[in-house]
Amino acid sequence: MEQDIANLETEITAEIAAAADLAALEGIRVSSLGKKGRVTGLMKGMGKMTPDERREMGPKLNGLKVTIAAVIAARRDVLDGEALNARLTSETLDMSLPPVPRAMGTVHPISQVMDEIAEIFASLGFDVAEGPDLEDDFHNFTALNIPPEHPARQMHDTFYLRPDANGERKLLRTHTSPVQIRTMIAQEPPIRIIAPGRTYRSDSDATHTPMFHQVEGLVIDKSTHLGHLKGCLEAFLKAFFEVDAVTLRFRPSYFPFTEPSMEVDVKCSFKGGTVKIGEGDDWLEILGCGMVNRKVLEACELDPEIYQGFAFGCGIDRLAMLKYGMNDLRAFFDADGRWLKHYGFKAFDAPTIAGGLSR
Ligand code: DAH
Repeated sequence: MEQDIANLETEITAEIAAAADLAALEGIRVSSLGKKGRVTGLMKGMGKMTPDERREMGPKLNGLKVTIAAVIAARRDVLDGEALNARLTSETLDMSLPPVPRAMGTVHPISQVMDEIAEIFASLGFDVAEGPDLEDDFHNFTALNIPPEHPARQMHDTFYLRPDANGERKLLRTHTSPVQIRTMIAQEPPIRIIAPGRTYRSDSDATHTPMFHQVEGLVIDKSTHLGHLKGCLEAFLKAFFEVDAVTLRFRPSYFPFTEPSMEVDVKCSFKGGTVKIGEGDDWLEILGCGMVNRKVLEACELDPEIYQGFAFGCGIDRLAMLKYGMNDLRAFFDADGRWLKHYGFKAFDAPTIAGGLSR
């Protein structure tokens, strides 16, 4: 019996070493450890042994089983590696081939609209600025003339993070306005920037999602005035909605970071269940704006006796819905392939002023 075990181990180990591929190895596993396998056969023979024999042979047989299983596993690792190497050398990817249009994804309407906005403002001489989504109190509130205890803080439904070791609570920016502060601190006027990006508020229904998108605008120079703001917004909205003329209404409003502050409505028609910009007798509010409050300039160490300028802030999701006729904001964030296929844009049709913004 002991000789049988030794012979079988030599025999099977040699077979394993000679196995050329994973299929051959599997055959050896079945023929040795399987139900009708050779090792299994020897183990069945234990039934006929005396208790003493069994006590002696049992561990040896078991040892054989364990050894064979380990040798098979080791050989499998080697063969797996060889199979992978063979695949890596035989499969090649030709990066110079054109993409197959059928398999191409689409550009999300939000990305499209952000690109359109950047393109329009670039043609007006604006740069694109960025700031972090995770902001601190100073940039999101205090420097924007919203000190602690200011009622405007309550209106923002802010998402706060846990306080750090110094007791400072970071927050998810509630608007893109902190990018104004970062820009004014980092660079000397003249400043002409837009800052599109994600913003967050604890709010959720058909017209509000906890994450949404805004674009901020900021112009700072020595003689920038309200007339420039109006002309700039009119040029932007005409280009964005691809119409020859827009009628805007500036209503007095209040924002802590601008003085005076205004809300802007655009003339439109709601007839037939769709919104049409540039016609009709209805008004639709689309953005907030104003002349940068001197306290904000001072917080950024700019001298308000020398510099002045305007700012505006506008919801991007709303603009996208208006321009491309979607009616539920939540669908923007569902990642539904069918919706994206319908409302998405072709990846190679980047919006340009010369070539057309949307087609
Ligand atoms: N930050 C404001 C908001 O989220 C929008 C806004 C209003 C931005 C007026 C501005 C501005 O820059 O001048 O509601």
